[in-house]
Amino acid sequence: APVLASTREELSALLDGARRSGGRVAFVPTMGALHEGHASLMRAARAATDGPLVVSIFVNPMQFAPTEDLDRYPRTLDADLEVCAAEGVDVVFAPGVEEMYPGGFSHDSVRDGVTVAPGSVATILDGASRPGHFDGVLTVVAKLFGLVRPDVAVFGQKDYQQLVLIRRMVRDLCLGIDVVGAETVREPDGLALSSRNRYLDADQRRTALALSRALRAAQERAAYGVPAARWAAMAVLKAEPGLELDYLALTGPDLGEPPETGEGRVLVAARVGTTRLIDNVPVVLD
Ligand code: PAJ
Repeated sequence: APVLASTREELSALLDGARRSGGRVAFVPTMGALHEGHASLMRAARAATDGPLVVSIFVNPMQFAPTEDLDRYPRTLDADLEVCAAEGVDVVFAPGVEEMYPGGFSHDSVRDGVTVAPGSVATILDGASRPGHFDGVLTVVAKLFGLVRPDVAVFGQKDYQQLVLIRRMVRDLCLGIDVVGAETVREPDGLALSSRNRYLDADQRRTALALSRALRAAQERAAYGVPAARWAAMAVLKAEPGLELDYLALTGPDLGEPPETGEGRVLVAARVGTTRLIDNVPVVLD
């Protein structure tokens, strides 16, 4: 079973010991409520190194706007520890808010200090709908990187814009960490696993399936070019009355303009009831 560290001091004591016995440190940051998607990241991390595997569980208040679901975000530490145990995790770092934001968290006090500015990629797509979200993500991930000092860190493609921004931060700030992007894990019917899926009732869950269905339609049409792919996805989304579309975008792999031919990315965000869902897939344009 993994060792649980809830303070920075405990974490560094554990890691000092582990680092001495050699091997690359692998790291999977999470907000808990762990599911098979998170477990797949742990397996990718486990495969990347024989050294210590660290998972963090921290619901980061900085990446939630005051109007968002911070208070109702699921917290399931006992079940989470079992998932980590089953995946061969060595250390689980589950700090309290005070440990990550000494003096207590407020958006104002944190922004009064030094934070990570994510740049223009954070102003589009999810960043346009959630101002400040990626400042919060990159700042907490930078702090976690400082505490864990991993050699390799694994993130999911499920949060594709987050993955692009983490890669960019590691490159631009010369952090020297290998970032691995793991494929999205889905339910058999296509719904991408998410900690927020538990907010959905049976009807809403059926409605939510339109996201992955739209992305598959875009994939199938991508050989006919960008407009055809976009149109196919939009037709699926428009046919779903319970779904309030936030964006549908077809981009290049770096979230810039899509290429004429070659690899692109289709990304979608929508609200079903009060739950905001995101999904994305690669496409091959022709
Ligand atoms: P969280 O939403 O808990 O996700 C943790 C990691 O699991 C992220 O890298 C995310 O992309 C990945 N993940 C979630 N669902 C997945 C799925 N269905 N298939 C594959 N991977 C999946 O993302 C965060 O937490 C936070 O923003 C964090 C990076 C921890 C910073 O607070």
